[in-house]
Amino acid sequence: PRRVRVHHLRQAKAEGRRLTMLTAYDAVTARLFDEAGLDLLLVGDSIGNTMHGHATTLPVTLDELVVAARSVAGATRRALVVADLPFGSYEAGPAQALASGVRMLKEAGVAAVKIEGGTRIVPQVEALTGAGVPVVGHLGFTPQSEHLLGGPRVQGRGQEAADRLTADALALQEAGAVAVVLEMVPAPVAARVTEVLEVPTIGIGAGAACDGQVLVWTDMAGMTGWSPRFARRFGEVGAALTAAAEAYAAAVRDGGFPGPEHTFER
Ligand code: KIV
Ligand code: NA
Repeated sequence: PRRVRVHHLRQAKAEGRRLTMLTAYDAVTARLFDEAGLDLLLVGDSIGNTMHGHATTLPVTLDELVVAARSVAGATRRALVVADLPFGSYEAGPAQALASGVRMLKEAGVAAVKIEGGTRIVPQVEALTGAGVPVVGHLGFTPQSEHLLGGPRVQGRGQEAADRLTADALALQEAGAVAVVLEMVPAPVAARVTEVLEVPTIGIGAGAACDGQVLVWTDMAGMTGWSPRFARRFGEVGAALTAAAEAYAAAVRDGGFPGPEHTFER
């Protein structure tokens, strides 16, 4: 299969083809999602919540995300792999952002990085883009700022906030961003941003007008009891996995496993 590359993103938008994106944190899921035909895989700092059991994305380190991103990139043949730059790895300025972005391409082998914020991180987007590191933006609810934002809350409500969000999106595009993720944004605001941008918007809790959608895979697949309102559960994989583990344990306890076919007689 032909690899999805950054120029295909604008192309997909121009041709009205919706982009599909899921998070992935390891080679096992990356291979499955790549084979399922997902256009983009995001090695998100949501790994902190989903895989490491933290309450927020804030403790995730660049070293941790480089390891996860290397696993995902290595297991992927078609999808464009994007890795988050975690909290604390790009805010200080363009030089810090560039050093972190270069590590992601060089050590992990991803094709792009994602950073949170609008106008305030334009110098970082320019430095990364100028050095050949494609950047995906992230606006609306930005989890790395959750203490400032007061938790996971819809962003861009009201004319002034909507105008600021639109200006931020345009600033990111102008600085070279190849796509912009919109998280927890009212659908009409996301629709307006989608209309004014030439690069695709990828929504999560941002309505159906976005050029693509992204979900955290554990929410998408029903791995946990709870999932956010904006995430549809497309499977009950958590329940299936529990059932498989129970069946295995029961078979071991009652002597049904291993059978002769699983056994070396000599
Ligand atoms: O880390 C993540 O999973 C993300 C998506 C929610 C866009 O940034
Ligand atoms: Na993230």
